[in-house]
This record gives sequence, C-alpha cells and structure tokens, in this order.
Amino acid sequence: MQFTVNGQTHEVDVEDDMPLLWVLRDELGITGPKYGCGIAQCGACTVHLDGIAVRSCQIPAGSLEGARVTTIEGLGTPDAMHALQEAWVDHQVAQCGYCQSGQIMQAADLLTTTPNPTDQDIDDVMSGNLCRCGTYPRIRAAIKTAATKMKGA
Ligand code: FES
Ligand code: FES
Repeated sequence: MQFTVNGQTHEVDVEDDMPLLWVLRDELGITGPKYGCGIAQCGACTVHLDGIAVRSCQIPAGSLEGARVTTIEGLGTPDAMHALQEAWVDHQVAQCGYCQSGQIMQAADLLTTTPNPTDQDIDDVMSGNLCRCGTYPRIRAAIKTAATKMKGA
C-alpha cells in the first residue's frame, strides 16, 4: 500500500493486519511513536491519521492506502518547532520521555478542535494518554501555554 508519512510518500509491502505502529517503526524507521500496551490503553503510539489522533497500534496496514500520517517527527523540526513542542521544552514536561510523543500528538489534535481548552477539556481528551512519571500537571500547563501562543500567531 502507498500512503504519506510526514509529507513523504511511502510504499510498503506488508501483511494487511500489521499495525501502523509496526509499519512506522520497523519498516520505515520512524521511532517517535512508542509501543506501550498494544491494546489502545496507553496512548504512547498516538499519531495523526488524516489529521485526527489515533492509536497506531490499532490501525491495520491494510486500511492505509492513500492515507496521510503525521508523527511527532512531522509536527515540527528542531529549527521550527510546533508551539506545543516549544511549550513542552519551556515547561520541562518530559521526565523519561517515553509517553511524550503520544502526549504531544494528542494535544495537537485537542488544540485543532478546541483552541481555548479548559482544564476539563484537557483532562477529558488527555486522560487516555498515560504517563508513569506523573507529568500531568506540566502537560496541562504546557497545553495552555501553547494555546495562548497559537492564538497570538
Ligand atoms: S501502544 Fe497503542 S495505545 Fe498503548
Ligand atoms: S515522561 Fe515517563 S512515562 Fe511519561
């Protein structure tokens, strides 16, 4: 199947039931999305599929023909970071970092649909992204900082 990842077209020849997370990491070498649980319970594997946050461990490769996938590597670059990535640095959100690409991709979807999120909006959307290091208060603060910055952009 042929689809784009971060704006680049890829063609892969894999079993239809191979999860997108495996395609990204093992076939394409894109390792930002992480394996946490494999059963849609942790959010570490979150990417955007046609602009919407999804759990890539649950998306079969067979459904990807013509799709547009964005991973943390495509959200911004070190020289041109997304407002969320800047806010994550400013608030020093990450501890071990393992969950954080999924957190940021989920937050990016939130700010697309809800540019001015309340604490409750953030908790409702982000509660499915688990962090064993307990960075939740800083995640919430960073999302608010990014939202403010994006409104002024
Ligand atoms: S690895 Fe996909 S939700 Fe946990
Ligand atoms: S920063 Fe360690 S799991 Fe979230």
